[in-house]
This record gives sequence, structure tokens and C-alpha cells, in this order.
Amino acid sequence: MADMTGTTQDTRNIDLLMVGPLAPALIDEIGGRYRLHRWWELDDRQAFLEGPGRAVRGIVTSGRFGATKTLIDSLPRLEAVVSQGVGYDTVDVAAARARNVVVTNTPGVLDDCVADAALALILAVSRRICEADRYVREGRWPEEGFRLGRKIGGKRCRIVGLGNIGRQIAARAEAFGMSIAYYNRSPRSDVPARYRYCADVVTLAGESDYLVLAVPGGPQTRHLVGAAVLRALGPEGVLVNVARGSVVDEAALVQALQGGVIAGAGLDVFEHEPQVPQALKEMTQTVLLPHIASATVETRQAMSDLVLSNLDGWFAHGKAVTPVP
Ligand code: 8YV
Repeated sequence: MADMTGTTQDTRNIDLLMVGPLAPALIDEIGGRYRLHRWWELDDRQAFLEGPGRAVRGIVTSGRFGATKTLIDSLPRLEAVVSQGVGYDTVDVAAARARNVVVTNTPGVLDDCVADAALALILAVSRRICEADRYVREGRWPEEGFRLGRKIGGKRCRIVGLGNIGRQIAARAEAFGMSIAYYNRSPRSDVPARYRYCADVVTLAGESDYLVLAVPGGPQTRHLVGAAVLRALGPEGVLVNVARGSVVDEAALVQALQGGVIAGAGLDVFEHEPQVPQALKEMTQTVLLPHIASATVETRQAMSDLVLSNLDGWFAHGKAVTPVP
């Protein structure tokens, strides 16, 4: 690898610890460039921490696997936590900062795919796509009718969190003829004036046909959507979550769906992944995805490339490419 002065830095003697199995091709790539230890495969983690772990300078992880304070504090030479995914709520950033450890994520490369997934969920719930597929496969077509779906054109799409992903959701929803309003920590001046800002999620839900969640996870947004928001969303309303399971009070959501308080839900994320409440699986008004909003070949490659750029940026050139703010 060449650094900014054009000289080559050998990173093969730098010890990294990967918390959980990322994509096999990425593991191979990192393993070829660094001395890579695999936390999830270690039989004796304590012995590792007291031995080879003392040399570890970087943690490689993802939104799924995270990095706890205990792990961060157990690695005396740690300099960087490089995480795959835009969300980093599972990385203890405060613990990293306290140790002067840089944390990086992979922003900007997955916005379009996550927004596509949000629209796929809106359409799938409204047009009852998954249910219709099951109806055909189960041979029910010749025997019985299929209930009508709902049109999305002309409906109100309301977005909680108008970051890069939220804005791409808005653009797509508008292309389908929906109107846009949003909740955000503060109003944005760099979005079309026709996107109306609403300072309160309950009020926003009250004027939504589709309430789409695209906020970061973490303590600040935990259970932002609970019984009151769902009541405001109402019996024709649909909740779509491509953010984090923690943003929704899942028990309240199950109750709201069971009681007809809202019409349906499209969910890519859950409070206790990979566990999904049985009640949600038994309903026809839900569409459930296994956290795949960013899971396309192209986007996962771009995310892997950015993980590598951050590693090489930090360890070969002394500067992370996308440190978290
Ligand atoms: C990933 C995500 O699936 O980017 C995120 O925040 O939730 C997803 O893109 C997750 O980070 C695991 O890599």
C-alpha cells in the first residue's frame, strides 16, 4: 500500500480483531493485508486478551456485531474500531472516545438500497404482494378470490429521520405520487420546501398513511414509536421500519396490529434480532425481512471497500476515511 508520500507501508504485522464473521471475501482481503484474529472462533477469549490481544490495534466489526466497552477496554493498544454499516449504535463510541480510539462506519454507499427496501415494504404491504405470492403457490387461485390491496399514489408518506436515507425514501415515494412530511431533530434547509417539517412524531403519525422510520438507533431514539404513535397512525396506517428494531416498542406494535389499531407493518429490523415475535409471523398484514435493506451484491461490495479504505486509511496513512461524527 502506498501512503500519501507515495511510500509503501507494510500492514501485515498489524494485529486486527474481527468480532463476528463479515463477508468471506472481506475476511480474506483483510487477512491478506493484516494479521487477523477471529474473536468468534476463539476457544479461550481470556487467554487471547492476556496474550495476542495485547498487540491488537484495530477492531473490525459491523452494526450487527458491534464493540462493547468491555472489549474496547480490554485491548491496550487499540487505535481504531472499523465498522461495516452506517448505523453504529452497537459500538460503544463513548468508550472508544475515552480511549482516543477512532470509530468509522460506512455512510453514503447504502442509502439507495435501503430506500429501495423501504419502498419495497410500502408496496408489499399495500398491494399484499407476499400474501398474493403465497396464494398462487398454494393453488388457491382457482378456488377463491383475492382481497383487494390499497393504492399508494396520492397517499401521505411521513418519514421519521430525514438523513441521507430518509431523503432517498422521500424522492422515491414522491415518484410514486405520495406527499412528504418529516420529523427530524431539526428542520432541514437543504430539502425541497414542499417537504413539511413536523416537530413531533405523534402529530406526524396522526397525518400519515405510511410512517417510515429512518432514524439512527441508540438510547435517543429507543421506543420513539410506542402505543401513542401507533394510535395516532390509526386503522388505515402502515408502519415501515428500515432503521433499528429498538426504535419501535415491539410489544406495543404487536398489540396495535392484533387490535386493528394500525392496518399493517413492513419491517426489516426487530428488537431482538434474529428473533421475531411469533405473533408478527402469524399475521397477514405484516411483511417481515431479515435485516436485508443493504444486502445487495453491489452495496455490500461498496461497504466492504469502505471498510478496507478505512483500515488502510488509518493504518497505512494515519487518517480514517469516514470517522463517525
Ligand atoms: C447492515 C445496517 O446490515 O448499515 C446499517 O446500519 O443496518 C446494515 O446495512 C448491518 O450494519 C450489518 O453489517
